[in-house]
Amino acid sequence: MLKFWDTIIAFAATIGAILVAAELVFPNSNPLTWWVDTLLTFLFAADLLLHLSIAQWKISRYTRDEITKTERGSYIWFALDLLAMLPFGFIFRIEWLLLPRLLKLARVGHFMAELRHRFLAWSNALKLVFFAYWLAISTHFLACIWIALGGITPKETQVSTYISGLYWCVTTLASVGYGDITPQNDTQRIFAMFVMFFGVGVYGYVIGNVTQLMANMDPAKVNYLENMEKLSAFIRYRNIPPHLQKRIRDYYGYLWEKRLGYDEMTIISALPPGLRTDLALFLIRDILVKVPLFQGADESFIRDIATHLRPVVFTPGDYVFKAGDIGHDMFFISRGSLDILSADEKITYTTLSEGAFFGEIALIMSTPRTATVRAAEYCDLYALRKETLDRVLKDHPDIAEHISEIGRQRQEQNRKLEKVE
Ligand code: CMP
Repeated sequence: MLKFWDTIIAFAATIGAILVAAELVFPNSNPLTWWVDTLLTFLFAADLLLHLSIAQWKISRYTRDEITKTERGSYIWFALDLLAMLPFGFIFRIEWLLLPRLLKLARVGHFMAELRHRFLAWSNALKLVFFAYWLAISTHFLACIWIALGGITPKETQVSTYISGLYWCVTTLASVGYGDITPQNDTQRIFAMFVMFFGVGVYGYVIGNVTQLMANMDPAKVNYLENMEKLSAFIRYRNIPPHLQKRIRDYYGYLWEKRLGYDEMTIISALPPGLRTDLALFLIRDILVKVPLFQGADESFIRDIATHLRPVVFTPGDYVFKAGDIGHDMFFISRGSLDILSADEKITYTTLSEGAFFGEIALIMSTPRTATVRAAEYCDLYALRKETLDRVLKDHPDIAEHISEIGRQRQEQNRKLEKVE
């Protein structure tokens, strides 16, 4: 509701600002101006009252320190809102007394900052949209000042005069400057120089921001392209054989397709612990619903491991590890299937798929890997370090027992299969 009101005020402040500049250049030309101005007085007065009551409410709730801060902020806003609201221009019928209305644009800036904060995912794009807004308002003002300075010889209609002023302003700002409208005296020359400098600043700002926006738009794509560039340099220098080249390319291709691969961990680890766990739980929600072990486990176990599960990807034919290796991680399968093979790879003990886990025996029994694991297709896994598993299982003996039992059954089953072979 408050946001809806803020939108109305932002809109009103914008209309006010446009009218004020136009009224200064073409006084008493628009009969609607004073009506709109009266409407603005009422709207701004309502807004002032609203913000006063919000500030009062905050002061009644906050601690002393926060109050001082809020109060200081409130006084400034109160002064701005009050000056913007008072209908000086209307009372005295003097155009330049309309200028305080422009102070309400500060609320527009504040509202935009709030919107960017609220829609964090679109913050960069919003920055550009808001920049376009400020640029449009500034262009309107500069065009009006140029007309007021006599830069445009009056045309048949005021609209035509205004359009000529706007045309001069846009061409000068964009550093095009055709030279068909040129400054005729020193004041105009000084103003023209100012507009040119302003234009250069705007140009630099736009280029810088658009580049940044493009670079941040899709981190997965940026990461993919960067890796592909590094990869082609690496392949050139180290003469990588074609079959390995293909596997590396496939791996990055898969990461790209799944929009993975950029370092989420740096973002997550910068958050405070509670928020970090909640975000991690959200990110691994796919695996939480798929793995029966997690569904049976209590919440504290899940929260304990949530921030420690690392996503890893294997392409078809990749070995996750081989029998006899030292075990450092256990894995949970989120997508894909993997063959569990004997050390000589002659016996396929089983094929594990979505929701299953593996690699627990070496960690729990502190033995080398008892089997070789090879990806049968593209696999998304989550890896859990031995140290984390050991620490968590100490607090959850029932789960430790459950995992050990599954490990024992698997070994038993393998022995039977080996005998048959
Ligand atoms: P680990 O010995 O650490 O490494 C190989 C893994 O393969 C092993 O742990 C088990 O998790 C898994 N594994 C071995 N045999 C089977 C089986 N018969 N069924 C399912 N998984 C198995």
